[in-house]
Amino acid sequence: MRQICVIGVGYVGLVTGACFADLGNRVIAIDINEERIKNLKKGVMPIYEPGLEELVERNIHAGRLVFTTSYAEALKGAEFAFIAVGTPSGDNGEADLKYVEAAAKSIAQNMTAPLIIINKSTVPIGTGDWVADIVTGAQLQPVPFSVVSCPEFLREGVAIADFMNPHRTVIGSLHRDAAEKVAQLHLPLRAPILITDLRTAEMIKYASNAFLATKISFINEVADICEALGADVKEVATGMGYDKRIGAAMLDAGLGWGGSCFPKDVKALAFMAEEKGIEPRILNTVTKANYDRRGKVVRQVEEMAGGLKGKTIGLLGLAFKPNTDDMREAASIDIARGFLEAGAKVRAYDPVAMDNARHLLPAVTLMEDPYKLAEGCDALVVVTEWNEFKNLDLAKVRDAMKTPILFDGRNIYEPAEMRTLGFTYRGIGRQ
Ligand code: NAD
Ligand code: UGA
Repeated sequence: MRQICVIGVGYVGLVTGACFADLGNRVIAIDINEERIKNLKKGVMPIYEPGLEELVERNIHAGRLVFTTSYAEALKGAEFAFIAVGTPSGDNGEADLKYVEAAAKSIAQNMTAPLIIINKSTVPIGTGDWVADIVTGAQLQPVPFSVVSCPEFLREGVAIADFMNPHRTVIGSLHRDAAEKVAQLHLPLRAPILITDLRTAEMIKYASNAFLATKISFINEVADICEALGADVKEVATGMGYDKRIGAAMLDAGLGWGGSCFPKDVKALAFMAEEKGIEPRILNTVTKANYDRRGKVVRQVEEMAGGLKGKTIGLLGLAFKPNTDDMREAASIDIARGFLEAGAKVRAYDPVAMDNARHLLPAVTLMEDPYKLAEGCDALVVVTEWNEFKNLDLAKVRDAMKTPILFDGRNIYEPAEMRTLGFTYRGIGRQ
């Protein structure tokens, strides 16, 4: 049984810890957030992620998963320490590494035996070397260690399945022995393993996220062209996706990408390029095109409703994507603010993200279900494609509304059916 320490019990750390425990390892997960650790010990999850609660409970009961706020306890007997703390955007788009720095110092001050320190957080190129310097400088006594980069590629909402079935495992280190040991740890996941140097591994993560974001921005531009020229972007995407060189994933046109990673990672990669005198033309355009979509939906609904002043707009969904409570960089935030600034009243319903949305959008009235949301609305906007919205009693929704205007920002409904039901309907890139 290997012993692993996981630092940070957020979306990545908690999933990583619980999954490694489920694979038969002993995992001690540490966080500086005492409330989170206290709750986890009682089986209360700090985040919403399907299947996570059962997975955590099962492994706590099996004695393979333990939570603590003490670095000394977390590192005692550990062979591996995964850093999975946040790396949010700084003021100029750069990745803010203060949590990584604090974690590295705490590791250094509390390690008493040789350790492989693995960076799972998404960190700028060169961070692995920097972490090694911090650890060396902060150690109270010299204890051997290696730093390895092992970026995470999971998606929220399907995080456990993604962690357990990755497309690849990327391992970067200048120490071959350490890289091999980390590779062994990942063998049960049965994915191709790429061992490379630290900087290349760190870059693979940024390049992957930036490419996926570019793919979405591309299909969104195609959607706008489809709409103007009489084509249907859903079928265009299907037709493109059959080509294995293109692939079907990440071709859903809509309100654009949000979340805790694409926005910050595209910006951070652009920042790194600019620091080296390289103009990141594609990355800058991809980001601008993405954020423009949020203002565009407000203008489109304004046009459909004949003005927004005094109107009531209902948002179906708030989370940045379905099956998560994560509101970080959710499109709903800018969209709700856009409607409010135009003089509309805004209300919203989301199956799980309303608690997190409350403090971000204090002027938005949160409703208890989609039907209550629809009552008296001048227009409804689908912002997040939750499954429960796909099977609504739409006749009931229509009857509850003041005017049956439906803007489907995620293309979950069929235009012809919606019009037959009596809605004034508009999707993205469709006729
Ligand atoms: P998160 O904000 O959900 O969780 C981070 C956790 O780290 C928090 O619980 C926080 O209290 C804790 N923490 C902060 N400083 C600490 C310290 N010094 N010691 C111990 N714990 C500390 O973050 P996340 O979404 O899990 O993202 C973590 C990293 O993984 C980021 O770099 C992100 O880019 C990357 N990533 C995230 C995802 C995702 O889907 N969220 C996917 C792949 C990669
Ligand atoms: C994304 C990547 O997919 C993961 O591989 C990566 O590990 C993660 O970022 C990260 O680094 O944090 P995630 O943000 O959880 O995962 O979710 P995605 O499913 O990729 O969706 C991101 C955003 O793009 C969402 O706002 C979603 O609505 C939007 N999206 C996604 C589209 O508009 N169209 C699509 O076809 C797919």
